Amino acid sequence: MSKQDFVNIQNLSEDTLLYLIRMAQEFEKHPNRELLKGKVVATLFYEPSTRTRLSFETAANRLGARVIGFTDAKVSSVSKGETLKDTILMVSNYADVIAMRHYIEGAAQYASEVAPIPIINAGDGAHQHPSQCLLDLYTIHQTQGTLNNLNIYLVGDLKYGRTVHSLIMAMRHFNPTFHFIAPKELAMPTEYKLYCKSHNIKYVEHTAFNSKEIADADILYMTRVQKERFSDLMEYERVKNVYRLTNDMLADAKPNMKVLHPLPRVNEIAYEVDDNPHAYYIQQAKNGLYAREAIFCYCLGITLDDVLNDKTI
Ligand code: CP
Repeated sequence: MSKQDFVNIQNLSEDTLLYLIRMAQEFEKHPNRELLKGKVVATLFYEPSTRTRLSFETAANRLGARVIGFTDAKVSSVSKGETLKDTILMVSNYADVIAMRHYIEGAAQYASEVAPIPIINAGDGAHQHPSQCLLDLYTIHQTQGTLNNLNIYLVGDLKYGRTVHSLIMAMRHFNPTFHFIAPKELAMPTEYKLYCKSHNIKYVEHTAFNSKEIADADILYMTRVQKERFSDLMEYERVKNVYRLTNDMLADAKPNMKVLHPLPRVNEIAYEVDDNPHAYYIQQAKNGLYAREAIFCYCLGITLDDVLNDKTI
């Protein structure tokens, strides 16, 4: 039987995405279940993380699995020169599934090709962040009641922000209109604009960020300028504070518009916005738990029927 990885969002069909959202809805009702009792989950983080790692580990704990792993590759034998392949093969001896974050684009894909157990991509460089994407879809569906025909504004670092790259690809099933708001140095890369064109995804590019510009947004998806991806820190200094969302900019927003952000934030959302009814990024991060419980089940052969018929709650 082939194993079920969760590495690239573009490989998932519309049905699979909706199925995972449906499963996550069940976990939102009852997060604590023993569906993964006896399983071992490994979290291998070669890059820093708060939400992704802790929500994966919480998901594993709430499903009754045990967790092993590292939060800093320097404390593993990677510091002695062990290759990614050897690390993945070793951990595959011990665990049933690996959630990994790596700074190299394509690292999770490579790991999935060498590992005998499922690999979950918890972020690979500036490339993709598919588990964040699932929780973003879940949150959009939860707040808008649908994924279809929405105006989605992506703001900030669209060059290095892997979450927006994954979101574009996943939304191809749902007829979105994207608005890309970025300074020219951080514009959406050509490969993702070509992806939009080849999948009939409508998009408009802007550099201005003001209340008029965003008045017809259903979702305003803010992003952090990714300092760690810049080779020239002078360039980072030039663009780091280019956009900042404040309450006055939300005055003309649609009543049900929600502000999302994968977090962490630096300066791009003023703290005053946290109490604005449009702010939804804290709940969005909470949804990461339910989405990641669904991802573990998907990778380990637990079906929606198993979840619905679960007698462990
Ligand atoms: N959204 C996200 O990936 O956050 P962390 O870097 O804290 O995991």
